[in-house]
Amino acid sequence: MENKNLQQRDGFSSKIGIIAAAAGSAIGLGNIWKFPYITGVYGGGAFILVYLVCIALIGLPVMLQEFSIGRRAQANAIGSFKKLKPNTPWFLTGWLGFAAAFVILSFYGVVAGWTLSYVFSAITNSFAGQDPEALGNMFGGLVVNPWKPILFQVIFMVLTAGIILGGVKNGIEKYSKILMPLLLAIIVVLDIRAITLPGASAGLAFLFQPDFSKLTASAVMSALGHAFFSLSLGMGTMITYGSYIGKKENLGVTALQVTIADTAIALLAGLAIFPAVFAFGIEPGAGPGLVFITLPNVFNQMPGGYIFAIMFFVLLAVAALTSSISILEVVVAYFVEDKGWDRKKSTIIATVAITALGAFESLTNSVINFKLPLLKGGVMHSFGFFDWMIEMSDLMLPLGGLFISIFVGWVMTKEDVDDEITNGGELSHAWMGIFEVLTKYVAPVLIFFTFLNLIFGWF
Ligand code: PHE
Repeated sequence: MENKNLQQRDGFSSKIGIIAAAAGSAIGLGNIWKFPYITGVYGGGAFILVYLVCIALIGLPVMLQEFSIGRRAQANAIGSFKKLKPNTPWFLTGWLGFAAAFVILSFYGVVAGWTLSYVFSAITNSFAGQDPEALGNMFGGLVVNPWKPILFQVIFMVLTAGIILGGVKNGIEKYSKILMPLLLAIIVVLDIRAITLPGASAGLAFLFQPDFSKLTASAVMSALGHAFFSLSLGMGTMITYGSYIGKKENLGVTALQVTIADTAIALLAGLAIFPAVFAFGIEPGAGPGLVFITLPNVFNQMPGGYIFAIMFFVLLAVAALTSSISILEVVVAYFVEDKGWDRKKSTIIATVAITALGAFESLTNSVINFKLPLLKGGVMHSFGFFDWMIEMSDLMLPLGGLFISIFVGWVMTKEDVDDEITNGGELSHAWMGIFEVLTKYVAPVLIFFTFLNLIFGWF
């Protein structure tokens, strides 16, 4: 015990490293795969507006709350609650996050595996000459193949574990600093290609002209769920990363920068996809297959499509990797700090267990006839893989966020919260009042009602 306290805790070494790692966590499949397809399903601009409101009123304050908890406690997601409120049930919030990390990474690895498989398909020019139906079958065939998705899932999880083994500074920070600029460069090139296509403007109109008739209650719920997913909130990722942020850094500014970066990349991903989709007269509401079926179709018709296809799927894989490491770190940090295991043992055990669960989920698409259960709209439903993973994170992350807001707003003392956020009074207090109102009232009330609605289906 003494020994552990004497050892210096691993952490981020620079401002740029913090932003790269935290933005790397936030920017992921959520931005480039999920955001465009749910925007397509819920009709475009109006959905984006609601999403932006959720980000500003709930996402941003919850991110700052998580950073503050982690940095104050200097511990992992579970340990933080134990340290800040010892001998109370609050540590269960950490366990909820731990469970969410386990489940989310299990399917995240599967979807990331599909993207790796598509990197290979793009390189070997396998989309060329295929009509839309054949491309649909190609994706469908991959998903229901028993072993191929698992092979790529395992490769992806090994990459994730490899980075996590390096630790915070020499693993997470180092690779995020290399991969994030690469991601930005690729997405900018893809954007320029998409918006210079003839006929791209219909896609821009779809994204930016809100059609409120499409805005259903479930669209609003998805916007909230997605705000949590996209910003990596509600499961202790940002608590864990917050604990690696130096005491001199400005947490509020960091949270704002990460939120802006995440939102900007989601919009840039939409800009890279919809103008191209509309330019070639393809249906935008294609669902989860949007990037795997619709886009290869678009690349086939686009000048330079071969190279843009490779770039796109590399982009997706890179984005997934800087997020998956942040999810694995939630689990590994707990094993290292609270169980006292070394980093290698922790990483291997966590990775094997999560990969096994993911492989099982993947097999429910093919050989295992098992539907995943979940309470929704007041009824117990059985879900297939796709819907289950979305519903599951839409439930678990806002619930985690609700407890985190209540914890920071009502359980921690105002002095402690102020002290952490203003670095002991050194930074401006100017916006603390707004933060307090959002934390105490706005975020918990909005999450609470959306959450109940999701479970009981009132409207
Ligand atoms: N934010 C990541 C994405 O958008 C996913 C994620 C969710 C990462 C929760 C960590 C925690 O893809």
